[in-house]
Amino acid sequence: MRNKSVNEKGQLLIGGVPAKHLAEHYGTPLYVYDVSQIRANARAFVRTFEEYGVEAQVAYASKAFSSVAMVQVAHQEGLSLDVVSEGELHTALEAGFPVEKIHMHGNNKSIRELEMAVEHNIGCIVVDNFYEIELLTYILREKNKTMDVLMRVTPGIEAHTHDYILTGQEDSKFGFDLSSGQAEEAFLKMQDHELINVMGLHCHIGSQIFETQGFEMAVQKLFATLEEWRERFDYTAGVLNLGGGFGIQYTSEDDPLELNDYAHALIKEVKRLSSAASYPVPEIWIEPGRSIVGEAGTTLYTVGSIKHIPDVRTYVSVDGGMTDNIRPALYGAKYEAVLPNKMHEGIDETYSIAGKCCESGDMLIWDVALPKVEHEDLLAIFSTGAYGYAMANHYNRFQKAAVVFVEEGSHQLVVRREAYQEMTRLDVSYEHREG
Ligand code: LLP
Repeated sequence: MRNKSVNEKGQLLIGGVPAKHLAEHYGTPLYVYDVSQIRANARAFVRTFEEYGVEAQVAYASKAFSSVAMVQVAHQEGLSLDVVSEGELHTALEAGFPVEKIHMHGNNKSIRELEMAVEHNIGCIVVDNFYEIELLTYILREKNKTMDVLMRVTPGIEAHTHDYILTGQEDSKFGFDLSSGQAEEAFLKMQDHELINVMGLHCHIGSQIFETQGFEMAVQKLFATLEEWRERFDYTAGVLNLGGGFGIQYTSEDDPLELNDYAHALIKEVKRLSSAASYPVPEIWIEPGRSIVGEAGTTLYTVGSIKHIPDVRTYVSVDGGMTDNIRPALYGAKYEAVLPNKMHEGIDETYSIAGKCCESGDMLIWDVALPKVEHEDLLAIFSTGAYGYAMANHYNRFQKAAVVFVEEGSHQLVVRREAYQEMTRLDVSYEHREG
């Protein structure tokens, strides 16, 4: 519940606007982002790196929440942008994001995606595999263009997080393996290429990480490789990209890292190793996603049915669920909730918040202490800004919810609620032909 306030009527305010007002105006379920919090998060990253006096680039990982308005805010705050698909790149272009600050990721970039990246002269492609080197080489030759690339490597580090969001270990679909020599082979393929410029290395060890140790180990592994390549291939890297992964607070039990501790750990390690090896300090690039938008997002729901099973539990069903937030069902992710119009009321009992999909696993929160819950109450779940809307789906043909930005007391719709006609617009009637 960081950065949330309550007015004298006991109503939750988001960005200075009563949640009640937003729900009445736009309907529920509704994703609400406090833009000043997004800006503060972005500025904190940029400022922290500036204070340490290192060359850095902070790229917002738009997979956490991509929309035209969000990409515009990232640009206003001076961030670069990480995209992983044609769709995210298209969104960035629609938003007018400067192409030279766009980086493209992906473990299976299509020819179209690579062509689009090359045609639009994006800043850098993070090359992931051998097939991609072939495709990129072909496209660059065809178009007679050049491209800056980073090489994504898997440093063999297992950060403590959920298995599905752990990415730096050797047994991973992402990147070139460091230990088996794959990374070196890929590097040699690209090093002398007249159209490809290898700026440096990239790794991403996982997401929602609370310890600095994994990041420090990643720096050490990457640095050891760079030193070896300098020795053997006379190559000096200009960039070290350490990915995203900085954890956030979902519930009061979470105790995330301080941004300063994380930045300090990274920078200290890069400087220490550079100086020990007389290596020119590379630029440090990072790609935070969750930590830019996660805590800035709140989802508003309306309570419908309430099922009380004596001595067992009380299920409170809301008008959304795993279609707008699949994280509890997919990762067992934990969240906290409040009743925005009853902020001054005392706790009544422990409830469990259910979604409305036809699936028992569609639970948003198991066990949350709330004031007395009644039909039509408004319910708010916090820290839903990352991988919520981004992972929304159409199960049971629910519409995708609307997204609203609030900032210092004013609010604005930035993604319309999907209409059913928009869903069926893609459907084509089947004409049964006899015989
Ligand atoms: N860079 C790369 C290469 C990544 O793969 C990711 C996330 C990021 C940056 C941003 O990481 P962040 O700062 O957001 O932790 N859907 C999952 C998270 C998947 C993360 C995938 N990659 C979830 O809801 O927890």
